[in-house]
Amino acid sequence: MFEFKYYTPTKVIFGKNTETKVADLIKEFGGKKVLIHYGKGSVIRSGLMQKVTDTLDAAGISYISLGGAVPNPRLSLVYEGIDLCKKEGVDFILALGGGSAIDSAKAIGYGVANEGDVWDFYVGKRKPKGCLPIGVILTIAATGSEMSDSSVITNEEGLFKRGCNSDYCRPKFAIMNPELTMTLPDYQTACGCADIMMHTMERYFTQGGNMEITDALAEGLLKTVIKNAKILVKEPKNYDARAEIMWAGSLAHNGLTGCGSDGGDWSPHKLEHEIGGMFDIAHGAGLAAVWGSWARYVYKDCLMRFKRFAVNVMEVENSGSDEEIALKGIEAMEAFYREINMPTNLRELGVNATDEQLSEIAHKCAIGVSGETGSAKRLKEKDMLAIYTACR
Ligand code: NZQ
Ligand code: ZN
Repeated sequence: MFEFKYYTPTKVIFGKNTETKVADLIKEFGGKKVLIHYGKGSVIRSGLMQKVTDTLDAAGISYISLGGAVPNPRLSLVYEGIDLCKKEGVDFILALGGGSAIDSAKAIGYGVANEGDVWDFYVGKRKPKGCLPIGVILTIAATGSEMSDSSVITNEEGLFKRGCNSDYCRPKFAIMNPELTMTLPDYQTACGCADIMMHTMERYFTQGGNMEITDALAEGLLKTVIKNAKILVKEPKNYDARAEIMWAGSLAHNGLTGCGSDGGDWSPHKLEHEIGGMFDIAHGAGLAAVWGSWARYVYKDCLMRFKRFAVNVMEVENSGSDEEIALKGIEAMEAFYREINMPTNLRELGVNATDEQLSEIAHKCAIGVSGETGSAKRLKEKDMLAIYTACR
């Protein structure tokens, strides 16, 4: 067991109609002038925006709004948000939506609270020293950004998708009403489930530092998401299944399922981020597309974890050689992806990448991790290219 820090300061308000509490929460955390930040309009179509502004009006909280955060949120909108917040004297950002609106809000918050170019934080040139307080009303269970220390932004110049991690950006509160996720297209629901599971699997496939309690939580979370993701394929309006998945999404990425581990592997995420940056695909689908090829490339170096995963999570029969059992676990996971209509390779993702494009993203990925990454197996540029090629 490795030593660890577990810090989850986000106040979670979970359940039906909880969005009506938003004004009280903003006041509790000192917000007087709010930027409401959102995506391409689902929150307007669903009526959430109207509800929120009615609540803020009634409470006498002044606000402005900025929409337009797209999946793989762009740096240009972040700059626009920073200028707007400075001009209007904004002291609190309320993100309505999913990871894209939340991550963009976090980046704007960094840009307002720190001098200089905010992109410096995403390429590791400098570390942020603060962030405007962020509140969230979540409308898609996926990234866990509502409790995480992470923000991922794409710079249109060069299509670099990069993350910045710091405790400063952890949201002050997260309102989670599972009903708000019921307007999601089925594809986005499934993408969310793939991402949630990956956040825990990234922390699970490591070379050491296992804790029995952490492993049990991780395996329970994965099995719960698998069960409820399958329910949602058939019954997208099932409240209990949506609630299980929504809470799993937060727990999968708030650090809980990594306590005592060596920090995790994170290669599938690094590999996906380059695909997302270049081909602008949904993050969860990109992860599903790359996972099988990654798993087959690394499993022999992390055999007992893959065997444990096969038996405890995918419920593969514990007979045969360790390698056979591990491979059956990988196959079972891919079968699950297909069952929820997720891709298991780039072609199924709708990406027809050329050799040159794969070489370019492998190169960018290697640069992004300063040459090497991973725990289950350390990967260099040639390994990244081999995995991209295998999942084409
Ligand atoms: O833009 P709108 O109109 O809101 O539509 C969104 C978007 O098209 C739509 N949507 C969301 N809630 C909806 C809805 N449509 C109907 N009804 C609803 N209730 O769904 C689409 C996807 O939304 P988005 O916010 O992009 O999804 P997600 O939460 O998966 O976020 C993805 C981004 O987060 C990053 C990803 O890389 C990607 O850029 N990540 C952030 C992390 C973090 N901050 O901790 C960790 C993750 O690993 C990930 O990298
Ligand atoms: Zn993710």
